[in-house]
Amino acid sequence: MASLTTQASRALARSSPALRLPAAAARAACLSTSSAVQGSSASSSFESPFKGESAYTKVPDFSKYMSKGPASRNQLFGYFMVGTLGAISAAGAKATIQEFLKNMSASADVLAMAKVEVDLNAIPEGKNVIIKWRGKPVFIRHRTAEEIEEANKVNVASLRDPQSDEERVKKPEWLVMLGVCTHLGCVPIGEAGDYGGWFCPCHGSHYDISGRIRKGPAPLNLEIPAYDFPEEDKLVIG
Ligand code: FES
Repeated sequence: MASLTTQASRALARSSPALRLPAAAARAACLSTSSAVQGSSASSSFESPFKGESAYTKVPDFSKYMSKGPASRNQLFGYFMVGTLGAISAAGAKATIQEFLKNMSASADVLAMAKVEVDLNAIPEGKNVIIKWRGKPVFIRHRTAEEIEEANKVNVASLRDPQSDEERVKKPEWLVMLGVCTHLGCVPIGEAGDYGGWFCPCHGSHYDISGRIRKGPAPLNLEIPAYDFPEEDKLVIG
């Protein structure tokens, strides 16, 4: 009888939903947790993990570095620093640009080459001298009174490159010009040619005693460089 009662109670227990509670309860708890998470994520906002302190992050206290003075004093200090640093930066930039320009400009030896000084006492009347200036020959002629007169007698209007002798010289006795033929750049020969001046043997150009083209293919007179007479017997070319 007793065993019958036990068997009946076990069968009842298997069929009863209350006895299956642990599995159902776990499933229900899981569902309720997920719905709670969903609800909370919909309503919450992002919060920085770096805010505040934790065992691993500690924000230092900077309060002791903060100025205790009035705001106007801090502003004054700020203006002073900006002004000072600006002035220092401007001075640095100026020095840098000055150095750059100094390095870019011609050096002293190049500048010295740019001008050539000639002692005119060394050139007798009626003679030619050829000097080198900036890699080009320069003819210097100490002209005689007859040569000056001859140069002035020419009818300027009849010339291919009309120029009076006066326009080509600073002192009538000194004719200074580049020794480069204006045709194709040969160096003419002095005291030669049909006009008693210079003759270019390359293609037969004749220049007169003022260096003006008179015959041959050259289109222009011999070029006059920049020159000056700083002293009575000194010529500076360049
Ligand atoms: S280069 Fe002098 S005449 Fe041609």
